Amino acid sequence: MAKVGVIGSGTWGIALAVLLYHNGHEVAVWSALPEEILEMKRTRSHQNLPELILPQELVLTEDLEKAMAGQDILVTAVPSVYVRSTAKRMQPFCRYGQVVVNVAKGIEESTLMTLSEVLEEELPMADVAVLSGPSHAEEVSRELPTTCVAGARTQKTAEYLQGIFMKDVFRVYTSPDILGIELGGSLKNVIALAAGIADGLGCGDNTKAALITRGIAEISRLGTAMGGKFQTFYGLSGIGDLIVTCASMHSRNRRAGILIGQGKTMEEATKEVKMVVEGIYSAKAALALSEKYEVSMPIVEQVNEVLFNGKPASEAVKDLMLRDKTIESSDIPWDRLEE
Ligand SMILES: NC(=O)c1ccc[n+]([C@@H]2O[C@H](COP(=O)([O-])OP(=O)(O)OC[C@H]3O[C@@H](n4cnc5c(N)ncnc54)[C@H](O)[C@@H]3O)[C@@H](O)[C@H]2O)c1
Repeated sequence: MAKVGVIGSGTWGIALAVLLYHNGHEVAVWSALPEEILEMKRTRSHQNLPELILPQELVLTEDLEKAMAGQDILVTAVPSVYVRSTAKRMQPFCRYGQVVVNVAKGIEESTLMTLSEVLEEELPMADVAVLSGPSHAEEVSRELPTTCVAGARTQKTAEYLQGIFMKDVFRVYTSPDILGIELGGSLKNVIALAAGIADGLGCGDNTKAALITRGIAEISRLGTAMGGKFQTFYGLSGIGDLIVTCASMHSRNRRAGILIGQGKTMEEATKEVKMVVEGIYSAKAALALSEKYEVSMPIVEQVNEVLFNGKPASEAVKDLMLRDKTIESSDIPWDRLEE
């Protein structure tokens, strides 16, 4: 049995908190929003996961020190835009060697840092790890079989986390590639916006498959240039998460994309989705990273054009289809040399 503090009581934080509780751990959940804690205490449920019962023993608190004190593991589960501000609040209560598992997905727009880099900067005393993969909270909370990958600096921490989270319906793999895991998890949101836009325009399954396949090519090109490992982008936190995000109606990025494809502006779409659409922040960051590392990312470029420069989505599709002719994979040599 371990003691776990879950920092953030959004949909994912609560789904993981209940999973950890059912795995026999002692769990406390903190929210920055006191009214959210009060409501959950009153109803013993979460507004976005109405079927999930929050067990009485699950501690719900607005006291951050209480949520963090004496915990073996802290899980940071706030939306990516709040990771730095939350880490700053955590700093006074964080002990040396504290295992902190980031489950948020995104790239900080102002610094282009991954979220574990942000956590390591704000909490230098912590042992920062990540948990990521194709894992919509709505399905995890219904105990539908799900797989994730735990990335850490040491095999010991990764295997420790694997043991803590693993369950008959929640299989966890380990990996040393924190950077690759985080880049896959955040960049896929940009491609999910593109997939949604295509759906909103009335494109078909061929288009979706094209976006997923060429999307992971873009993600892995940038990711490996930044130091992530190629295999990671073809694993659970890369192609796995990309497939689920592009295909599922649980994805807020895809839902926002659909509205944009149907002609709504980015502002109208985010208002209608009513949740933080992280792909919008990651889109800007991905474009800046592609320029910094001089990596071609045509889908990311077109998503930025549609989101921020008012380009009609149908024109963006045309431009993607008609851009310069190219080879699918430049690493494969031709069988015969030119005559
Ligand atoms: N929902 C999922 O299925 C899922 C799965 C895997 C990863 N994630 C990632 O986990 C992270 C959280 O996602 P979510 O779906 O739980 O988000 P969410 O939209 O449900 O989270 C909203 C929550 O943010 C918190 N919040 C609001 N203002 C805050 C502030 N100023 N400071 C700190 N916290 C504040 C509140 O607790 C609120 O409930 C995201 O980065 C997401 O990409 C989500």
